[in-house]
Amino acid sequence: MKSQLAIKKIYIKTYGCQMNFSETEIISGLFLSNGFELTDSMDTADVIILNTCSIRDTAVNKVIGKLGQLKRLKKDNPDLIIGIGGCYAQSDSDFLKKKANYLDFIFGTYNKLRLVDIINKIEESRVLDDYETILDVGVYPDNEQFQYKDIAYKNPVTAWVPIMRGCDNYCSYCIVPYVRGHEISRIPSEIITQIEGLSSQNYKEIVLLGQNVNSYGKRFADGIDYKITFAGLLKELIKIDKIKRIRFITSHPKDLTDELIDVMSSSEKICKSLHLPVQSGSTNVLKAMKRQYSREYYVELIKKLRDKIPDLALATDVIVGFPGETEEDFQLTIDLIKAVRFEQAYLFRYSSRKGTAAEALPDQLPETLKKKRLWALMEIQDKITEEESIKYLGTEVEVLVEGPDQKKNVNSFSGRTNSNKIVIFKGKKTDIGNFVRIKITRTTPYTLFGEKL
Ligand code: SAH
Ligand code: SF4
Ligand code: F3S
Repeated sequence: MKSQLAIKKIYIKTYGCQMNFSETEIISGLFLSNGFELTDSMDTADVIILNTCSIRDTAVNKVIGKLGQLKRLKKDNPDLIIGIGGCYAQSDSDFLKKKANYLDFIFGTYNKLRLVDIINKIEESRVLDDYETILDVGVYPDNEQFQYKDIAYKNPVTAWVPIMRGCDNYCSYCIVPYVRGHEISRIPSEIITQIEGLSSQNYKEIVLLGQNVNSYGKRFADGIDYKITFAGLLKELIKIDKIKRIRFITSHPKDLTDELIDVMSSSEKICKSLHLPVQSGSTNVLKAMKRQYSREYYVELIKKLRDKIPDLALATDVIVGFPGETEEDFQLTIDLIKAVRFEQAYLFRYSSRKGTAAEALPDQLPETLKKKRLWALMEIQDKITEEESIKYLGTEVEVLVEGPDQKKNVNSFSGRTNSNKIVIFKGKKTDIGNFVRIKITRTTPYTLFGEKL
């Protein structure tokens, strides 16, 4: 029998979207409240956990690369415990179990709250010298999914708050509904309690998270119908006094209601910035993507939004090279991008995902063509992003200060505008967590620089 290992220090590496980063905060909180410690260094960790993403092949390749490094670490230190979880682990658990036998545990997207048990089990099995990879990628009940309270928030000023999980949309290219299951909404009172707690800890800003926040309220985690929409939820949240800014991601255009536009335009607290993925400018491609709206609908929606909320900052996602996308379709996307002029756009090359409807479509495009289109679109959007950024030059903006500038310039601090632009300025430590007025003196496409007024 080996001696008790006393596993203490946990290192978590996170990939993917804010949802995954938020779940890492939840997992970290769980470990901390169970007597574990967190570490930023892989070298001193007793346990290394990868919280993974499988949205595109590039995301998966990053994880696979990291696994190679972990395998070597394990060779040097057989006591090290290595686990992989999240979306990629959920989607490819059989492969991982077979090919990566140095992994101690593989967990899915439903059971992050059981991780402490898993680590304890591994510790016990090691003491008994009875060792096998733990595979736990099962589907657990909806009402377990939000049962956490001690969250280790990374940022002391702005906090992520999940309001739903899963997705029912089944866009034909997307793996999310397969790895995160059906859409469920978190009970409103639990969301309100969490945010009231944040407000009493002096948080000023919250970011509500969901794959499609606009359809909040369709099916609740405990099966009860609370008869509340996303706009209705926002109306409750703006009553929480000390929370000054509310953001949310992501919005699906098909579910963006007039009620939501009204709340956004009438409440000062709701940031005037919207991430509204369009995916393509061609109705034919949108149809094949199963997005459930047309180009005309999207363009009209943008017009309506800008009429009602004139200072709205818009961001979007676009996929180029979807199966069957013609040169004409691609031109329509270029036209839309030029017409709408998003402040920011995340542009992706279509990546075929195992088990999705689009995987089986004919006319998959060659990588060279997908890349060519991506680069062409990037060049156009980069110019727009830069030009839209230059518009801030000479203006005065209100910035919520989040912390020291990451590049660690002395006295340099960073925060965000209401429109979600990053601003760097010379300030002092006491600015953190407060709103300051800044005059913008220099711009780069993604960052503004200015002076405190
Ligand atoms: N739920 C969000 C987006 C989640 S994924 C929404 O519906 O808006 C983030 C972005 O990744 C998507 O908006 C899409 O642009 C991109 N994406 C998803 N699947 C992809 C794939 N198979 N290939 C390339 N990009 C993809
Ligand atoms: Fe994926 Fe579509 Fe759901 Fe977004 S709405 S997560 S793109 S299936
Ligand atoms: Fe990736 Fe899962 Fe998010 S696939 S984008 S981490 S929901």
